[in-house]
Amino acid sequence: MKSIRQLVSNRVLAGLISLTGGLLFTSQTFAADPGKIVVQADQPGASISPLFYGLMTEEINHSYDGGLYGELIQNRIFKDAPPRGGGGRGGRRGGQPPAAAGAAAAPAAPTPPPVPVAPAIAHWAKVGSDDSQGSIALDTTDPVNTVALTTSLKLTIAAVGASGRVGVANDGYWGIPVKPATNYQASFYAKGSDGFSGPLTVDIESNDGKTTYATATVPAVGGQWQQYKLTLKTGQVAPTADTRLVISGASRGTVNLNLVSLFPPVFNPRTGAALGGRPVTGFRSDIMQLLADMKPAFLRFPGGNFVEGPNLNDRYNFKITVGPWEDRPGHGGSWGYRATDGMGLLEFLEWCEELKMEPVLAVWAGLNLNNANGVVTGDALKPYIQDALDEIEYVSGPSTSEWGARRAKDGHPAPFKLTYVEIGNEDNLNQGTTTYRGPEGRFALFYNAIKAKHPDLQVIATTDPQVKHDVIDNHAYMSPVDAIRNAHRYDTASRTGPKVFEGEWASQEGGLSNPNRPLTPTFQCALSDAAFLTGLERNADLVIMSCYAPLLTRTNPGGSNWKTDLIGYDSLTAYASPPYYVQKMFSHARGDQVLKVASITPQSVATPPAAPVPAAAPAAGAAPAPGGRRGGRGGTAAPNYNEPLFAAASREDATGDIILKVVNVFPGDQAETVDLTGAKVLKNATGQILVGQPDDTNSVTDPLHVIPKDFVITDASSSWSHTFPGNSITVIRFKTK
Ligand code: AHR
Repeated sequence: MKSIRQLVSNRVLAGLISLTGGLLFTSQTFAADPGKIVVQADQPGASISPLFYGLMTEEINHSYDGGLYGELIQNRIFKDAPPRGGGGRGGRRGGQPPAAAGAAAAPAAPTPPPVPVAPAIAHWAKVGSDDSQGSIALDTTDPVNTVALTTSLKLTIAAVGASGRVGVANDGYWGIPVKPATNYQASFYAKGSDGFSGPLTVDIESNDGKTTYATATVPAVGGQWQQYKLTLKTGQVAPTADTRLVISGASRGTVNLNLVSLFPPVFNPRTGAALGGRPVTGFRSDIMQLLADMKPAFLRFPGGNFVEGPNLNDRYNFKITVGPWEDRPGHGGSWGYRATDGMGLLEFLEWCEELKMEPVLAVWAGLNLNNANGVVTGDALKPYIQDALDEIEYVSGPSTSEWGARRAKDGHPAPFKLTYVEIGNEDNLNQGTTTYRGPEGRFALFYNAIKAKHPDLQVIATTDPQVKHDVIDNHAYMSPVDAIRNAHRYDTASRTGPKVFEGEWASQEGGLSNPNRPLTPTFQCALSDAAFLTGLERNADLVIMSCYAPLLTRTNPGGSNWKTDLIGYDSLTAYASPPYYVQKMFSHARGDQVLKVASITPQSVATPPAAPVPAAAPAAGAAPAPGGRRGGRGGTAAPNYNEPLFAAASREDATGDIILKVVNVFPGDQAETVDLTGAKVLKNATGQILVGQPDDTNSVTDPLHVIPKDFVITDASSSWSHTFPGNSITVIRFKTK
């Protein structure tokens, strides 16, 4: 029997030691008989959906605005609520709670008459030295257009002192990320009046105004609205986000500005000539690269609660998210901040195209988060059902259809492949279940209309509608212990109903009820996620798709609405959490057919390990309901502390590889004989291992603390001995040809 020490190459071994601080090899080992993992390698079972591993996404935690969407200017069309007093629009967990009705009034104190001050403009401030005079204000008197650019920023320059300028500064999304030798594309609408005709200077500078990192000038500004475009280039500067964008003038008069935009270099840039130069893939490169590396097969969008919206007007309405930026007013998001919709429906689809993902499209289904206008039902749903049909046509219709033609006009004549459409999101919220259910329910009205026009589309329900549905989307946010237990969630579930989409799930330290869980999860959650995933894969005849949620988060203070999230970032650095690497390892080694893991016998030990990782069991009644937190099918197995190893196996058609995934959730090593019954196995095989301590984590300052390591095997056989280290996730590819 070879131990992991012998199997792992020296280079990898060094990596493992540094990865675990040496702890891996000092963990407890048990003098005992090896256990056995038996895989029926010659009896391929159910097919695994090629769409098994994907991404779930919505505008939450500044996922797009201030995240994946490359725009660097915050509040570019001046529609964000003022920073004080305005709150957000409110949403499920954002915005400010309304004052309690009927609350007792505080004793009145004599107050001085208010001093009139111009309301602050979110993310914009006047700059200029004390000897300059000027002001900024919002101006609705002469809009650029009446669709979206209805409010401009008016900069009045009354006097220019020794500093030589009066201007406006934008603080970006937690600063403007300045990197060396980098081109930034700036654009804005401007018009001069009261004698102002330019020039206008555009600077990326330090927040104290002392260092200019890049500058460009518009020599003359006309008296009518006109768009100006410039390139700003940095030199050999040290990266920083302690920065702002300033647009300033040096002569008296007035200048109005609108749609002020600044883009850094983006992922795989392509520009849409049909769109007047709109970047087709305007996505932040480092985040996109992390996503591309996962090789996801589908994208579930646009939510999440972002679909429902905080009220009827701010539901996800694709029609206001397409077309030129000039026509996109944005809308109140579900997570306490306004969405620009720069990341509109076409951008989601281009994101899919870029990463070769299939869209899984959620359409609005009558429910809003705050029940602000009640649930829309019955005949009143008809216009929204038509919106859903139009949205499907925009995505997948030929360019000769009404909405396919609109997509072509927007720069993408070719239709996108669409197989799955989801009716709403979490329609059990706000007691929405009763209106979702039954032959006259919200689900059935959408289902029937969609099937009548698109019989081949697979329609997903978000809670059991008690009428025919093709797929049910189960959501499960779990404590790590529950995730481990739920590796058996689908083992005994009924096979006669709809297929299962595990459309939102994650294990979280302490579960959703723990307010102190970290922003991005630790290695402990990587172990539990991996155990859970083996259960999804083993049940691939029933479970057809899986995606972790949420996907993205800002790590800056105030940038996040939800813990925990798979990928974190500030303005300069993006990093992946340990559970990200589980998703990536499993997605890269999906396989095409399930191979049954007939039995797993743990290594027999003198003293069995005390408890799985993590040790804490949930309080009675805290375990997720059958089917998870929301959703319909599957059960919760009782904990089995004699089951420290979790495994799934599959066969890959193209290579003939047998893929084995083994998760050891205990801190002790587990010596096993792996029996691949009926298989002819070559000696040389490869693997990847992720090991760590439960509290290990990655961060902006230590992004690669926990990462998988490759290893090679030179003595593989159909009855192969191996020690699976404590706290480890191992994926092995056995070669058969
Ligand atoms: O993923 C975060 C939120 O969790 C989603 O918006 C919602 O669908 C779920 O409740």
